[in-house]
Amino acid sequence: MTAQVKNVDALTREEAAQTLAELAEQIARHDQLYHQQDAPEISDAEYDELRRLNSAIEERFPDLALTDGPSGRVGAAPASGFSKVAHAQPMLSLSNAFEANDVVEFIARVRRFLGLEEAETVEIVAEPKIDGLSASLRYEGGVFLLGATRGDGTTGENITANLKTIADIPETLPPDAPAIFEVRGEVYMSREDFFALNERQTAAESKTFANPRNAAAGSLRQLDSSITAARPLRFFAYSTGETSEPVADTHWNFLSHLKDWGFSVNPLSRLCADSTEALALYEEIDAARSSLPYDIDGIVYKINRLDWQSRLGMVSRAPRWAIAHKFAAEQAETVLHNISIQVGRTGALTPVAELEPITVGGVVVSRATLHNADEIERKDVRAGDSVIVQRAGDVIPQVVRAIAEKRPKDSKPFIFPDHCPECGSVVMQEEGEVVRRCTGGLICPAQALERLKHFVSRNAFDIEGFGGKHIEAFRTDGLIKTPADIFRLASHTEEISTRDGWGEQSTDNLLAAIEARRHIPLERFIYALGVRQVGQSNGRLLARHYGTFEALSEAMAAAQDPESEAFSALIAIDGIGPSVAADLIAFFAEDHNQTVLNELAELLDIEPFIQAETDSPIAGRTVVFTGTLEEMTRGEAKARAETLGAKVSGSVSKKTDFVVAGPGAGSKAKKAAELGVTVLSEQQWLEMLNGEATP
Ligand code: IVH
Repeated sequence: MTAQVKNVDALTREEAAQTLAELAEQIARHDQLYHQQDAPEISDAEYDELRRLNSAIEERFPDLALTDGPSGRVGAAPASGFSKVAHAQPMLSLSNAFEANDVVEFIARVRRFLGLEEAETVEIVAEPKIDGLSASLRYEGGVFLLGATRGDGTTGENITANLKTIADIPETLPPDAPAIFEVRGEVYMSREDFFALNERQTAAESKTFANPRNAAAGSLRQLDSSITAARPLRFFAYSTGETSEPVADTHWNFLSHLKDWGFSVNPLSRLCADSTEALALYEEIDAARSSLPYDIDGIVYKINRLDWQSRLGMVSRAPRWAIAHKFAAEQAETVLHNISIQVGRTGALTPVAELEPITVGGVVVSRATLHNADEIERKDVRAGDSVIVQRAGDVIPQVVRAIAEKRPKDSKPFIFPDHCPECGSVVMQEEGEVVRRCTGGLICPAQALERLKHFVSRNAFDIEGFGGKHIEAFRTDGLIKTPADIFRLASHTEEISTRDGWGEQSTDNLLAAIEARRHIPLERFIYALGVRQVGQSNGRLLARHYGTFEALSEAMAAAQDPESEAFSALIAIDGIGPSVAADLIAFFAEDHNQTVLNELAELLDIEPFIQAETDSPIAGRTVVFTGTLEEMTRGEAKARAETLGAKVSGSVSKKTDFVVAGPGAGSKAKKAAELGVTVLSEQQWLEMLNGEATP
């Protein structure tokens, strides 16, 4: 189940790090389900909420952002079967707005970033956000040569043959189109075509699709393009990738060229003079939404002037010049049959509503989290209640409320168990925490299982072809009890290869995959242990600090004494507080854990931490901007510096590497001089950024 975070502002640093690690894992899983398997388990709105939460936490704790985390990535790496295509320019995603005010704020941000005078108008193009999947089409010499999916934003799949079957996509362009021209847009299926396709699929006893988007995705990813040709796919063009020459000065004119060249551009798109007009269009289209022939999930606003777009650039994976304004949540009524309790890796007990399955916004929902005991009490939901469920703006399907009038007469309030339903151990609630936890530790089968699953998960040991289901089955049959047993499976070859669904080949593959993971970077190893509050980010902090597993292990033993130097050193690590330290020390002190750790150390090659190198001259440096900048606004300067890996600070100290001083610089420049910190002019700074001078 998902980390529930109501208020990002209230998160401690440790909670933030933990949540970011959890979110990274969840988002990666959902990316995989959505992009590679065309089988999402959550709605787009829920997915967006995960992303939003991730960004909000990263914004508050920028240094905790994971380099390989969700904001650096778009979608999932391409699946096999198609050849890969490196995008000449990355295919971006969009940040989201959920209410009108977010849109107003978006325009204000743009204005601040560009340093615009009040009198200057900012035109916006508003377009429906088509609920399909994006594709990039490359024309050379006016001929459609290469078409690709978005993939992870950098590399997609070559689906040229499939795209050529789509009637909306012109084979050739008129001579006035640029010699090299990449156009991007959305492949989608109309609702009517989707229903008809599902009928044909049912008649043929083939798989049906959950919604038009999945149908479009499944049709586009056929290895046999004659199947794609039989599927009624369409295409709306809305942006560009590489072009050999500029096409227009504004996005609006660009769209008009697209139409001239034979592309289909969404007819509801409109040029708006300001946010008021754009928001009015949003309302208008929202009202007409259900009568449109295709699914849309919001409105995209784009800054019309292309010179401004290029100045605005992008932040992590999304452009600063566009935003997607999502339509509100869809709700539905259903019956809550039962409240069950799930026990997680760290013993947390999560109540789950078991629902009469219901379709909300195109996806069937049968379970929803109730978060914790307080939440159940606050909402007073009971088994047997008719409830309103919602999917949007929230992480997982949510029970909004119970319908009082429909409550069965004999209904009783839910009583939260005081013993773990899995192992019978006492349930405890720590002071200041809302979660209740099973105190069974390793004797609790649910916790032990979840820990094993975590151990092999993607960001931990990532053993190919060895997922949660296998772990569960192997554990039930006694093949593995502890993580160390995984690395001893080679002595059970016979038992594995004779299992149901297994053969010699698959056993060999599994053992090879396990073998490949005998060498593991220290930070992954630490993360894999599943110590409470030690996610990827804290794993990396510890790896960086201690360097080797031996050093970490010794330090944790010594740190049991709170008077020791080892303890002081541990809590002095920036990002590790007393609470994380306590969990770590307790983990290493536990006898069972010690045994497993010693076994693992014998079986594995835990690689020492290697400091990452980056090629940007300012990566890792701390910069302070002061005075007036002439080439760009402060915001733009800060963003560029951060993109190159620099840390931007507001005040000068001994830790400052450079002060960039423009006209009117006062006390900060003076302080820099006193401290002997290098002071650069804006020009010198720009030269450094461009690699023309080295620090
Ligand atoms: S512009 C650089 N315009 O939404 C910006 N995207 O959440 C690129 N989408 O990946 C996207 N309709 O698949 C844009 N009118 C529209 C869109 C649109 C649908 C999709 C697209 C994109 C995703 C981002």
